[in-house]
Amino acid sequence: PELAQAFIDEQISELREQIGDKKVLLALSGGVDSSVVAALLIKAVGQQLVCVHVNHGLLRKGEPEQVVEVFRNQMNANLIYVDAVDRFLDKLAGVAEPEKKRKIIGAEFIRVFEEEARKLDGIEFLAQGTIYPDILESDGVKAHHNVGGLPEDLQFELVEPLKLLFKDEVRVVGKALGLPDNMVFRQPFPGPGLGVRCLGAITRDRLEAVRESDAILREEFAKNGLEGKVWQYFTAVPDFKSVGVKDGKRTFAYPVIIRAVNTKDAMTATVENVPFELLQHITARITSEVENVNRVLYDLTPKPSGTIEWE
Ligand code: XMP
Repeated sequence: PELAQAFIDEQISELREQIGDKKVLLALSGGVDSSVVAALLIKAVGQQLVCVHVNHGLLRKGEPEQVVEVFRNQMNANLIYVDAVDRFLDKLAGVAEPEKKRKIIGAEFIRVFEEEARKLDGIEFLAQGTIYPDILESDGVKAHHNVGGLPEDLQFELVEPLKLLFKDEVRVVGKALGLPDNMVFRQPFPGPGLGVRCLGAITRDRLEAVRESDAILREEFAKNGLEGKVWQYFTAVPDFKSVGVKDGKRTFAYPVIIRAVNTKDAMTATVENVPFELLQHITARITSEVENVNRVLYDLTPKPSGTIEWE
């Protein structure tokens, strides 16, 4: 904690020196890294920071609302909230191939962000939540002026206050900055979000089934002491239906797949031995509370042969 405070104080003075009276732009997803960068910059330069939160419709239940609540309402940040849900879902309509879905989500994200950046005047810096493992993964070579696909005329100087920290250290700093625990100790969440958990071509009904079942799973894991113990846990909804029965009537609806895994480096993973009674309870909740769902399956596959995500 004292080290975290020392890091924060040092970063605040370095950020002030680097940025001066200029403006900084930040894509604020609500993930750990971008949230900690935002909190640091708010302390350092206040209203000179412009955060852009793009809601692409693929975030977990309650996340966009939490970003607005924490950063705009509590921390008084200059936050632009972009509702891009229809735009993303239109682009993704009918696209079933996982890598194509990823490309569309990534490209559309840059396009939306770029449009917002163009509306703003006098931005000279772009803040990023780069952490040390990101730099290691790219062999220490990071382009320092050309950021992830932005066009030539939108080139900013990079601000990367977390680039020498490991994830655990980022979390400690986030906590010291007063960010809520469920933001700081969050499990890993893929960039394409629920888009790769709504299997095959994304439809709104199945996307809602993924979001609602994931919320129930997270709530039950938290209640039963598994939050922070299991490395990653989520639900996925495939693009086929099965026959079931409810209140004496035949149903034809989607299954929900539960996945809960442990790993050190995400290269291999083992399946969490979730108590059977808890799985039964979660199954009962999901089949009664989530629309368009009549079955729940538990994925018993380690990595390999399965990957952690289904797509
Ligand atoms: P897999 O499914 O490859 O996942 O075993 C390993 C870890 O990476 C995450 N993951 C992603 N993260 N963009 C991301 O930012 C992606 O496209 C992506 N695909 C998988 C996955 O959630 C797991 O933690």
